[in-house]
Amino acid sequence: MRLDIVSIFPEYFAPLDVSLIGKARERGTLDVRIHQLRDWTHDVHKTVDDTPYGGGPGMVMKPEVWGEAIDAIIAEGPAVGGVGAPAATPRIIVPTPSGRPFTQEIAQELAAEPWLLFACGRYEGIDSRVMREYGARMRVDELSIGDYVLAGGEVAVLVMVEAIGRLLPGVLGNVHSAVDDSFAPGAMRNLLEGPVYTKPPVWRGHEVPEVLLSGHHGKIARWRRDEALRRTVANRPELAAAIDPETLDKHDRKL
Ligand code: ADE
Repeated sequence: MRLDIVSIFPEYFAPLDVSLIGKARERGTLDVRIHQLRDWTHDVHKTVDDTPYGGGPGMVMKPEVWGEAIDAIIAEGPAVGGVGAPAATPRIIVPTPSGRPFTQEIAQELAAEPWLLFACGRYEGIDSRVMREYGARMRVDELSIGDYVLAGGEVAVLVMVEAIGRLLPGVLGNVHSAVDDSFAPGAMRNLLEGPVYTKPPVWRGHEVPEVLLSGHHGKIARWRRDEALRRTVANRPELAAAIDPETLDKHDRKL
């Protein structure tokens, strides 16, 4: 998978050199290219923003510089890898608190793409015509990682790249790890993962639940599902309310 990231702060992406994503890059599973937006400016001050039409606080990122940057990156293509034929154009992701919520389902969908281009806005955001221009030619998604406002899109991109990257074949050490994740499609859809334990069996007087030491796989699976349901009801009642009753079994209903 190829990932292009455009930002005025490329230093933000140093964490992509380490851990799972760093290793995937070394192996060539992930081709991550980080670009300085200011490289496509033409004035001595390398200006990327201007005052908003209609007035108001803050600054808006200028469309010309974004257009030149995205055109130049697309001209480097096509990207090979992912599902299907090589992609002539990337799917463009614009992180913004005004976007659709970024979910595990969207992470799965994006993990199947051969090429993603992340456009990091700062200040009040990117001139809206940029999204309209490219939206006519390729898929453009404005995505939010949560109901709070960050100083820019960089940290949101780190979050999304990690969520997407760990779903790529061969990136997670244990292929089963992603299956039991909170929010994963299937049995864990709309459910939070329950508590986990490791050795020793007693630590500072706190015992590991006995069922986990029993070796009885059926009882352990039942206990894990009960704990997942309990935690979902306690921490995310709106998620619990959205669970399809058809997916609940007769033991679940007692909770
Ligand atoms: N940029 C600023 N805040 C953001 C958020 N919550 N999600 C995505 N991008 C952002």
